Amino acid sequence: MNPFSLSNKTILVTGASSGIGKQVALSLTNMGANVVITGRNEERLNEVYQTLEQGTNLQVSADLTNETDRTNLVSQLPQLDGVVNSAGVVNPYPIKYITQAKIDETLNINYEVPLLLMAAITKSKKLNKKASVVFMSSISGQHPHKGGSLYSGSKAAIESLSKVFALEHYHLGIRSNCISPAMVKTEMYDDAEQDMTKQAMDDHVSQYPLGVGTPTDVANTIVFLLSDASKWITGINIRLDGGYLLEGK
Ligand SMILES: NC(=O)c1ccc[n+]([C@@H]2O[C@H](COP(=O)([O-])OP(=O)(O)OC[C@H]3O[C@@H](n4cnc5c(N)ncnc54)[C@H](OP(=O)(O)O)[C@@H]3O)[C@@H](O)[C@H]2O)c1
Repeated sequence: MNPFSLSNKTILVTGASSGIGKQVALSLTNMGANVVITGRNEERLNEVYQTLEQGTNLQVSADLTNETDRTNLVSQLPQLDGVVNSAGVVNPYPIKYITQAKIDETLNINYEVPLLLMAAITKSKKLNKKASVVFMSSISGQHPHKGGSLYSGSKAAIESLSKVFALEHYHLGIRSNCISPAMVKTEMYDDAEQDMTKQAMDDHVSQYPLGVGTPTDVANTIVFLLSDASKWITGINIRLDGGYLLEGK
């Protein structure tokens, strides 16, 4: 049996209507998994669903910050062998512009949702023994940037959450790991391009010895973390940065 295969595994992917989550869903089905995909935008979610490899896949559109939507999603879930928590937003603001509403806008989806979702999934006993959970951080969790009080803060919190999840579930053989990508070319990247001058973006991109990442670069690491090939790995954070931090930024 190929330890990298995901045959007979069923995996929930949040944020699957776009970017990294979308590619993760495709890559997981290519490796033999069945997936439950969720995102807010029904039309884009359905487009992703139509491109998946055939299997017992399911799509459930949900605003995961809404408790009713979350409960509906969890009630439809089959038994899971893995969860990929990819849904997230950036929302960069200098600290002087932070308000309670802005904190909620970012922290709800980036931190509270993965925590509440994993709470509901574990409480309803939908996570099988030996399952693998992946939380999505960013290099900015450890290397904060100006304007990152919400984003970097939420990602640092996710890294702690992933370790706590690992600690509370290892007795069931359930593993939890985090990944921290640097710049990946997705819709989020396109938004960043809007927020920066072309010169600033070009300067940033030139600092990646291996170039900026693609959703496939991230998805391949997630395939590994969900597969039995990584069955001895839990509680870690894998940095994916094309060498960006190599020279000690
Ligand atoms: N791209 C990068 O450079 C990069 C780098 C490091 C880490 N990351 C992390 O990777 C993850 C995915 O990023 P991405 O680049 O793939 O972003 P993206 O293309 O903007 O996709 C974000 C996804 O999150 C979903 N989402 C946002 N708010 C939601 C809500 N309230 N309820 C349910 N779903 C919601 C979106 O759904 P809809 O579109 O349907 O609304 C979309 O599917 C994020 O956690 C991000 O922080 C990205």
